[in-house]
Amino acid sequence: MQNLMPKIISLAKRRGFIFPSSEIYGGFGSCYDFGPLGVEMKNNIKKAWWDEMTKNQENIVGLDAAILMSPKVWQASGHLTAGFADELVECKSCHKRFRTDEIGRGRASASCPECGGELTEPRKFNLMMRTFVGPVENEAALTYLRAETCQGIYMNYENVLNSMRLKIPFGMAQIGKVFRNEITTKNFVFRIREFEQMEMEWFCRPKEAEKYFDFWKKERLNWYLNLGLKKENLREREVSEKELPHYSIRTVDIEYKFPFGWGELEAINNRGDWDLSNHSKCSGKDLRYVDEEKKKKYFLYIVETSGGIDRVFLALLCDAYQEIKGGRTKTTKPTKEVEILLKLDKRIAPIKVAVLPLVRNKPKIVKKAREVYQLLKPHFFCQYDELGSIGRRYRRQDEIATIFCLTVDFESLKQEDLTIRYRDTMKQERVKIKDLPWHIKKLMCGI
Ligand code: GAP
Repeated sequence: MQNLMPKIISLAKRRGFIFPSSEIYGGFGSCYDFGPLGVEMKNNIKKAWWDEMTKNQENIVGLDAAILMSPKVWQASGHLTAGFADELVECKSCHKRFRTDEIGRGRASASCPECGGELTEPRKFNLMMRTFVGPVENEAALTYLRAETCQGIYMNYENVLNSMRLKIPFGMAQIGKVFRNEITTKNFVFRIREFEQMEMEWFCRPKEAEKYFDFWKKERLNWYLNLGLKKENLREREVSEKELPHYSIRTVDIEYKFPFGWGELEAINNRGDWDLSNHSKCSGKDLRYVDEEKKKKYFLYIVETSGGIDRVFLALLCDAYQEIKGGRTKTTKPTKEVEILLKLDKRIAPIKVAVLPLVRNKPKIVKKAREVYQLLKPHFFCQYDELGSIGRRYRRQDEIATIFCLTVDFESLKQEDLTIRYRDTMKQERVKIKDLPWHIKKLMCGI
């Protein structure tokens, strides 16, 4: 679809999914806030991932480690050195900085994309965000906001192993905020400075790492397909040796075809023993695993699945967005040239049920509709809406992906039933009010 990104950005703001941070002060450094529908949708993505990666697994446990850690963690992980840095050039005229991989600096002719000025030689720019802990702002108080959640997992490797009596292979999963001082931030929430990751670290014997790498790569791709992303918009990309992150032996990116081109959603990394051996060396703590079966002590290998929630959020919005010229309703006259339908998976849609009184000037209908709303609210995320014509309200709900619209009408007062309308098919049927919680639960679970 042409110009999809501006449409997504506009919908996100208009309907309360995503707002620019500190907007009344002109925004702030490519940070974004998730609005009332955005936070709900984001929580749904996280829940779908958490259920899949912990609840549905026998040998993966969860964790929630602190964002702030000893700076020694980042020294040992290699994030403070050149490995975790972007190569940048600066314009000698306007002093803007650009990533060399984005402006094709390899070519001698490359000049400033903004003003055409001469560019400096490339230099490395570290992405870690610095902060100070305690009352004095000096080098001794310096630490960093975490740049990947998995370091918190490695810090707790022994604690979790011992407290949960885990046997290899096993995994640890975590969701959390991550900070990177990105130089070029663009494409809405695709590349931002504060974002959320969902990471799972799989600990296994070195010889089995490749086998599990292939296993998790397949599982993760299937997860995206299962969430409803179109097959033709997903692909795997083997990351070349030159591009490999400093900690990785092998990386395959799961990419999505965004309106601005293919972009990484999730990285599958074989991190080998990089993390455990470096942390062992730097901390002096022996993090080798005692393999009772093999009668050996060695460092486990780590296969990592590392996804970005904000990017998945954006991909889901882009994939679900549809415009229907002339509208979908054939029985009534469409009020708009183009109707928007957001066909999100039912687990991901922020609002599951909208309760709509047919008219708002009949107290008995309004009362009944409010009763239905109160009945369903404890079970599903619901919205009550009485403003505007019923057709207009259906379209408003379609635009935010609401799965079911329930309309309370005059018949409802006599029959104790109402009309349920399904978002995707627009099919309508009568259901008894008392049966609604169970009926909708069954529909949500697909039984
Ligand atoms: N622990 C491995 C790791 O952090 P990564 O490829 O640097 O790997 C993993 O990041 C995921 O985090 C990416 O696939 C992407 O979805 C997300 N991500 C990375 N940088 C991001 C940014 N600046 N804005 C939004 N998401 C980002």
